[in-house]
Amino acid sequence: MKETISGLSVYFEGNSKNKSIIFLHGFPYDHTMWKSQIDELNEKYFCVTYDIRGLGESPVGDGQYTMESFVDDLEAIIDQQKLDKPILCGLSMGGYIGLRALERFDEKFSAVILCDTRADADGNEGKLKRAAAIKRINTEGLAPFAKDFITNCFGDDYKQNNKDDFEKRIVKSSSFDPAGVKGSLIAMLGRNDTTEYLSKIKIPALVICGEFDALTPPAVMKSLAGKINGAGFVVIKNSGHMSPIENPKEVNEAITKFLTRL
Ligand code: MLT
Repeated sequence: MKETISGLSVYFEGNSKNKSIIFLHGFPYDHTMWKSQIDELNEKYFCVTYDIRGLGESPVGDGQYTMESFVDDLEAIIDQQKLDKPILCGLSMGGYIGLRALERFDEKFSAVILCDTRADADGNEGKLKRAAAIKRINTEGLAPFAKDFITNCFGDDYKQNNKDDFEKRIVKSSSFDPAGVKGSLIAMLGRNDTTEYLSKIKIPALVICGEFDALTPPAVMKSLAGKINGAGFVVIKNSGHMSPIENPKEVNEAITKFLTRL
């Protein structure tokens, strides 16, 4: 089922009476990156996901976003749907949104799953990379940037053995409105650092990372997990940055194990 909330395309699967899980996708993707997890979990959980503003089917508007406005969007969905302490599950940019949402209103969540993400903000090098990406999109169009970025996200095994799916993801992301993609880059560039907050997280947490993640490597995520009291840390074999797509079996096992212990 699909609904428009605050202008965003929001998708629901499962019985709304069940415990809800809200899934936040990474950049530059859309809600469909969580398909394998939602297919697995929707019998027992009310699965909610959405396209982050400017990406997928959500409108671009003026293309001017901040991490705060992304968190406002998440809060609007939780409040309007009256979700009762959902479990938060975010990958990479979805994790940035999730961590900042916890920092702002952790009383609204019952548990958190952080996949292939980080708590620290962009340093100088990262900021300049984002600026170069925006310049490249302006001069060459979105497609070359999307191809290179997505190529870097996936591990070799997936790229070799799932060529069609991999190519389709590049084509899909290349079709997004460039203004929305650039808006996300600026929002990420300007986000705050949530590292200090990690030790204040009181809800159960699971940290998941692909063993070959080149963007948020296992060492970064292990250190993140080590700062959250009692957090579980699982390394997903044979996977790059997009572990829920690259190795859904292991990611689903890790998530299911975590959820059954709540
Ligand atoms: C993502 O997967 O969301 C991006 O890699 C995040 C980023 O560029 O920092």
